[in-house]
Amino acid sequence: MADAAPAFAHRHLLGIEQLAPADVTAVLDLAEDYVALNRGRDKKRATLRGLTQINLFFENSTRTQASFEIAGKRLGADVMNMSVRTSSMSKGETLLDTAATLNAMHPDLIVVRHQHSGAVALLSAKVDAAVINAGDGRHEHPTQALLDALTIRRRKGRLHRLTVAICGDVAHSRVARSNMILLGMMENRVRVVAPPTLLPPDIDRYGVEVFHDMEKGIEGADVVMMLRLQQERMEGAFVPSQREYFHRWGLDQQKLAHAAPDAIVMHPGPMNRGVEIDALVADDPARSVIGEQVEMGVAVRMAVLELLAGARERG
Ligand code: NCD
Repeated sequence: MADAAPAFAHRHLLGIEQLAPADVTAVLDLAEDYVALNRGRDKKRATLRGLTQINLFFENSTRTQASFEIAGKRLGADVMNMSVRTSSMSKGETLLDTAATLNAMHPDLIVVRHQHSGAVALLSAKVDAAVINAGDGRHEHPTQALLDALTIRRRKGRLHRLTVAICGDVAHSRVARSNMILLGMMENRVRVVAPPTLLPPDIDRYGVEVFHDMEKGIEGADVVMMLRLQQERMEGAFVPSQREYFHRWGLDQQKLAHAAPDAIVMHPGPMNRGVEIDALVADDPARSVIGEQVEMGVAVRMAVLELLAGARERG
């Protein structure tokens, strides 16, 4: 009898959309081992020894790039960071030229962040390496949703039948999109809470409940996930002023009181304190799991790198 297909039989990680629930569970289970490893003294393994990992960032990043670098190094890969600044004229050309150049150096894993939705998938078709999407435009950011899922599973003891409120600038957020897909697939009740100007036009696709009022949207939620107001992606005036935005949509202790008494507060970072989240909430150790999200980020990225490298070796 043939063995069942191994979980995570994927060549690339381009989005949560291509994953099955068993793939998500496989990543999170393996990541649990790395949480333990990362808390110990000897954090190094030889799993990726001999392999070359390139982190190719066309857009700024602090935590995502740093955690992919640490993840690769802890698993023994040779890690190279490349930051590429593009002029708007030469974007498409730069992407494919860079892909061809890097491919000639025989990397095994390429982690890519790009300002255009779909750019990472385009690049993955041009290279032999396994490609990981570290954020493409407003499309997907799969490792962020996976690290959020691990954080939720550890804090809540499960990753199903939870009420999760995703609040704020959903329209510009690849984090929101990947999370809506993942949390929906794992059978949670997903709400989005935002002004109509900050909702994507295709919001109906995701099977989420939409709220235009923070207190109602947060009511009874187990998880309150705040999003950064992404002013760099806004062309017109989506919001009146930061002060007004905080008043209506910013998470403070008063609004949070409507959530479940044991609700956790998440934010992918970087945070705009006093815009989408009050500093008192962000820094409240009883509620905020924002630091833990960063910790889980390294473990989840180690798991993803290992699973993709393994799938590559199996052919
Ligand atoms: C997010 C991103 O870049 O999409 N940040 C991150 O990866 N931690 C969210 C954001 O920029 O607001």
